[in-house]
Amino acid sequence: MQVIKYAFQQHGDNRGQLVALEEFNDIPFKIKRVYYMYDTGKDVTRGFHAHKKLEQILICIHGSCKIRLDNGFEKKVIPLEKPYEGLYVSNSMWREMFDFSEDAVLMVLASELYDEADYIRNYDEFLEFVKNEKKEV
Ligand code: TYD
Repeated sequence: MQVIKYAFQQHGDNRGQLVALEEFNDIPFKIKRVYYMYDTGKDVTRGFHAHKKLEQILICIHGSCKIRLDNGFEKKVIPLEKPYEGLYVSNSMWREMFDFSEDAVLMVLASELYDEADYIRNYDEFLEFVKNEKKEV
């Protein structure tokens, strides 16, 4: 499984750091939605779903957390620990977010508006979805 992790350009000087994200320049899709999670309990795992179409970039803009990616054939755990790191999550990818630090803020840039019909929340259904997708290629 190929993991795409971006290191965004930091504009730093003696006042501090700044990261700017532009669609199609820094982010490979049109950003239609931004959301973020915070106050996430220490032992909480979130996610447990995949998307049929949606693509995302996950950025832990404060604190740290871990992301488990699963393409139906292989799993990988990717730590997000820096505010200038972005993890690309394609469609057809099961994701779980866990090991949140107390101060973690996980921001998500998404290629689509919120649409429950785009979610696959059942793991067996997800495995079936990726198997069928492979057949079509
Ligand atoms: P949920 O999908 O459970 O979050 P996670 O993927 O982190 O486990 O979403 C939590 C709640 O927020 C749920 O009631 C749906 C709502 N929600 C929106 O209204 N808009 C959004 O863009 C997202 C991502 C969630």
